[in-house]
Amino acid sequence: MKVSLLNTLAYMAALVTAAPSGCDFSLVGFGKDNPIGATTGGKGGRIVTVTTPEALASAVEGNEPRTVYAKGTFNLTSRLRVGSNKSIIGVGKGAEVRQNGVTIANSTNVILRNFGIRFIVDNDGITVQNSTRVWIDHNEFESEFSQEVGPDYYDGQCDIVRGSDWITVSWNYFHNHWKSSLIGNSDVLRDVDFGKLHITYHHNYWRNIGTRGPAGRFGHQHIYNNLYVDFHYQAIHSRSDNQVLVEGNVFKGDTRTALTTYGLVIPEDSPNTSPEGDPEIDGFANLGAKNDFGNSDVNITQKGTFYKAPYRYKLTPLDRVESIVKQGVGLGNLG
Ligand SMILES: *[C@@H]1O[C@H](CO)[C@@H](O)[C@H](O)[C@H]1NC(C)=O
Ligand SMILES: *[C@@H]1O[C@H](CO)[C@@H](O)[C@H](O)[C@H]1NC(C)=O
Ligand SMILES: *[C@@H]1O[C@H](CO)[C@@H](O)[C@H](O)[C@H]1NC(C)=O
Ligand SMILES: *[C@@H]1O[C@H](CO)[C@@H](O)[C@H](O)[C@H]1NC(C)=O
Ligand SMILES: *[C@@H]1O[C@H](CO)[C@@H](O)[C@H](O)[C@H]1NC(C)=O
Repeated sequence: MKVSLLNTLAYMAALVTAAPSGCDFSLVGFGKDNPIGATTGGKGGRIVTVTTPEALASAVEGNEPRTVYAKGTFNLTSRLRVGSNKSIIGVGKGAEVRQNGVTIANSTNVILRNFGIRFIVDNDGITVQNSTRVWIDHNEFESEFSQEVGPDYYDGQCDIVRGSDWITVSWNYFHNHWKSSLIGNSDVLRDVDFGKLHITYHHNYWRNIGTRGPAGRFGHQHIYNNLYVDFHYQAIHSRSDNQVLVEGNVFKGDTRTALTTYGLVIPEDSPNTSPEGDPEIDGFANLGAKNDFGNSDVNITQKGTFYKAPYRYKLTPLDRVESIVKQGVGLGNLG
């Protein structure tokens, strides 16, 4: 009797605390530990709940600190433009944006959690441009991966560009899409991007994707404890002097290339614009804690100077990455 009551209580506790045991859903990485201050979003400001696209758009405008709880589906007639000092959080099982995605441009200190961002045609799900201190956490990104729709019908799922810096992308579920996450959108923007684009990607789940998991130019990305399943052509691509530190990740299924620093943008990335591929100079990569590359290729043409992350973080043991990531990512997990 006693034992069964304890079991029941333990079961109920497991239901309310969504973070898988031994892991922590708080902010970690460049979005937290950086020279300009941790990302706090709307902390200290007003708290509002919105249920219509108009109310959502006006709640996230301006630079005044605000926490915006979003409830339901938001069929946006234009992109959602987010000002500085905002936390935007989907309620319960997650909010949805449809039709248009989210732009975080010329802003600082933005948190976006628990949003489904699906089928955004001809543009990115999220674009982070010329912005600093951003945390993109526990979202789900989805469209289609197929030869019929190709790479350009949808654009990126989460692209981070134009001198953006000090960002963490954690516990997101990226699936069914061609080009997932681009960092630095042109090799001619070297002067804008060089030495910026410090981004931590941890505990994300990528499944049934073509390329860019992520693809980075000119910056520094710490990529740890992510799960890649059927990332068909090329997952991590570090090019144009970009540096990655890659550790504790798991690659499975039909995943041709797990990691490469060879500069060539492969034809599969942009067959419509570069059928022969697009040569760029190489990037750099260092390996930290052991990865499980499965049967996927790794082509590190040069090692860089980014061999240690300049902050504290806790690695999930490699043999637990798959189950922890699958349990922890995406919508409805914030409790
Ligand atoms: C909000 O963001 C701006 C940057 O756009 C910053 O200068 C300002 O100090 C912040 N405001 C508050 C009240 O925190
Ligand atoms: C969203 O809005 C568009 C028009 O902007 C409309 O065509 C579409 O049916 C709407 N979708 C939903 C799910 O309401
Ligand atoms: C960002 O700021 C620049 C310079 O003020 C402006 O030209 C540009 O339109 C802004 N971008 C967005 C997306 O608001
Ligand atoms: C970047 O954003 C800042 C505001 O944070 C703005 O002053 C600046 O003009 C923007 N630069 C560009 C190139 O858009
Ligand atoms: C690996 O990189 C080298 C350049 O160092 C390149 O010649 C080779 O084609 C690359 N291999 C693959 C599979 O991309």
